[in-house]
Amino acid sequence: MKKSEGNKVLVRVFYPNTHRRDSRALDLTGAPYVLWNGDVTSFLDRLPDKPLFDLVVTSPPYNLGKEYENKTKFEKYLRWQETIIGQILRRVKPSGSVCWQVGNFVDNGQIIPLDIEFAPLFKAQGLQLRNRIVWHFGHGLHSKRRFSGRYEVVMWYTKSDQYIFNLDAVRVPAKYPGKKHFKGPRAGQLSGNPMGKNPEDVWSIPNVKSNHVEKTGHPCQFPVGLIERLVLALTNPGGLVFDPFSGVGSTGVAAALHGRSFWGAEIDKRYVDTARQRIEETLQGKVRYRPHDRPLYDHTQSNLSKRPTEWADREYE
Ligand SMILES: C[S@@+](CC[C@H](N)C(=O)[O-])C[C@H]1O[C@@H](n2cnc3c(N)ncnc32)[C@H](O)[C@@H]1O
Repeated sequence: MKKSEGNKVLVRVFYPNTHRRDSRALDLTGAPYVLWNGDVTSFLDRLPDKPLFDLVVTSPPYNLGKEYENKTKFEKYLRWQETIIGQILRRVKPSGSVCWQVGNFVDNGQIIPLDIEFAPLFKAQGLQLRNRIVWHFGHGLHSKRRFSGRYEVVMWYTKSDQYIFNLDAVRVPAKYPGKKHFKGPRAGQLSGNPMGKNPEDVWSIPNVKSNHVEKTGHPCQFPVGLIERLVLALTNPGGLVFDPFSGVGSTGVAAALHGRSFWGAEIDKRYVDTARQRIEETLQGKVRYRPHDRPLYDHTQSNLSKRPTEWADREYE
């Protein structure tokens, strides 16, 4: 367990690999911030088998052979994920939500969208899909033999029909706030909501590239802003958010920013150390992040957006 701010423990960190034989149940009741440096299954095994989580949000390994995963047969990968999903669902509250953020598995130049593969697993567990949110971002690899990929998805599932959904907490400015009813009993009155409009299901939020304010040593962080919106809409203050593949703690930062608790499991100690630091900085009001409601940068303001004079005699093809 690490200490900071004198003797005050802000984030409890467990290093189970150094106590392999210790399989006692963990009582984390009331622990606001917990990081488990080990396999997520070993964490879940030591938790009580009862509803604990208000929201589970994660980006799992995609089986792409990144530095933090062993690429395996796709079917085997899916069975592994299915087992973990089953263990997690038993610990989600009836009013709770599960958000699986996924992109594509790429096999020999062919894409396999992971949300399509995951959908039957969640359906078989009786979950209800509420939104398939398209997370659109502006930067990435330039493909030569297919259109360059610029989105991933968040599959938002609920466990029941009685789920938390705080729309007012995530409204965004309307395009035409001055619009009025033009007929009927409310003709002439403003038709919109003064708090803004529903953010809809296509979210443009910059991905974490090298010059992003949130960039750490992790190769595949998701942006805090993407998760802030889910935390605000799908939990109430004081709720417990769990990320089974927590990386450098982006979910933890989003939870801590908004007065929610956070537990995460991450197998790589380097990422756990960074996560602890980021969550502590958040609690101390010092974390650097890009808020979910910051407007996108207007690229036309940059000189680089002007067509170079060298290309004056060339047409766009
Ligand atoms: C796509 S990354 C998640 C990054 C995270 N969303 C963030 O913003 O930092 C997946 C993470 O899962 C971790 N991981 C892989 N297998 C794991 C396991 N069995 N248990 C816990 N974590 C694991 C990897 O080390 C990696 O950091």
